Amino acid sequence: MASAVALCGTAQAQSKGKTLVAYFSWGGNTREVAKYIQQQTGGDLFEITTVTPYSADYNECVNLAKKEQQDNARPPLAAEVKDMAAYDVVFVGYPNWWGSMPMVLFTFLEKYDLRGKTVIPFCTHGSGRWGRSLDDLKKLCPDVTLLEGFAVSGNSARRSKDDVVKWLQKIGITSSK
Ligand SMILES: Cc1cc2nc3c(=O)[nH]c(=O)nc-3n(C[C@H](O)[C@H](O)[C@H](O)COP(=O)(O)O)c2cc1C
Repeated sequence: MASAVALCGTAQAQSKGKTLVAYFSWGGNTREVAKYIQQQTGGDLFEITTVTPYSADYNECVNLAKKEQQDNARPPLAAEVKDMAAYDVVFVGYPNWWGSMPMVLFTFLEKYDLRGKTVIPFCTHGSGRWGRSLDDLKKLCPDVTLLEGFAVSGNSARRSKDDVVKWLQKIGITSSK
């Protein structure tokens, strides 16, 4: 009986198809979570980057991010996903910036047609968890199957592997052994 359950779980994970783990990270926290997800799912890792990189200076980055949000900017992407149509499951990861996603996530989500795909958000944050980002994401991703996401404090991101494993099992992306 136990093996039947395990087989069912495996089949479910396999039937979900090809996986992309797309993320933006300024300081590295979100990248760590993205890597854990990639390790668990075997998906392709894609870093969302801007043509003009953000300053490494925290205050400069914070100020520019605020201005971009106020201006409803769409910072151009520095790299493209080769064949988005090939993916059935798309993880979308980002840090909470000023209560939502960095504006380059808006650029990214407007560029690609994710309709019909399974979209799974993850975010790292200072303490504001998702902020308004899930509402924004839903507006930008119509007609997708949105699964429960994963939010973790940036300070805990590097220690979040076990929680990532449990979350992926809970939402049926991977099977428990
Ligand atoms: C420009 C900027 C704006 C931020 N705004 C928020 C915010 O509104 N709420 C929050 O909880 N954390 C905020 N943070 C903290 C980040 O969400 C947090 O440190 C995150 O883990 C950074 O991820 P990263 O290392 O992948 O860039 C902000 C950080 C930056 C650099």
